[in-house]
Amino acid sequence: MTPKELLDAARTAAENAYAPYSGFRVGAVIVAADGTMYPGVNWESAAYPSGVCAEASAISAAVTAGRTELITVAVACIDAAADEESFPCGQCRQRLHEFGVHEVIVAKPDGTAGTYALSELLPHGFRLQADS
Ligand code: THU
Repeated sequence: MTPKELLDAARTAAENAYAPYSGFRVGAVIVAADGTMYPGVNWESAAYPSGVCAEASAISAAVTAGRTELITVAVACIDAAADEESFPCGQCRQRLHEFGVHEVIVAKPDGTAGTYALSELLPHGFRLQADS
């Protein structure tokens, strides 16, 4: 799939986001190493910190399906407030790093797909010493 197609899939997923508190509906699509796609959405809670980001939802779907080698994520917000690029938050950058995602696709202000290396967005991501 092209970056634009992945971004469109993320926008479609975002239709199912549950964001009554922020009004900021986000969709994410993770592409695993075998090419399988896993969508996710943000969902919120009246106890605000209990909500989950779209990227985290997509990672959960992939890991639940047994995929822990992940390559690409596309992230899109479909609400008006998002007329700027909606990059993954800091915590999600670290989550993506955990599973090897190296390509991040976001919508540019003109709606086209922008592609970034995760290492640009999260240089020196955390790993336990024992892992290296
Ligand atoms: N959100 C995401 O889904 N992904 C991000 O990377 C940043 C923020 C969600 C969390 C919350 O439901 C809403 O956007 C506003 O912060």
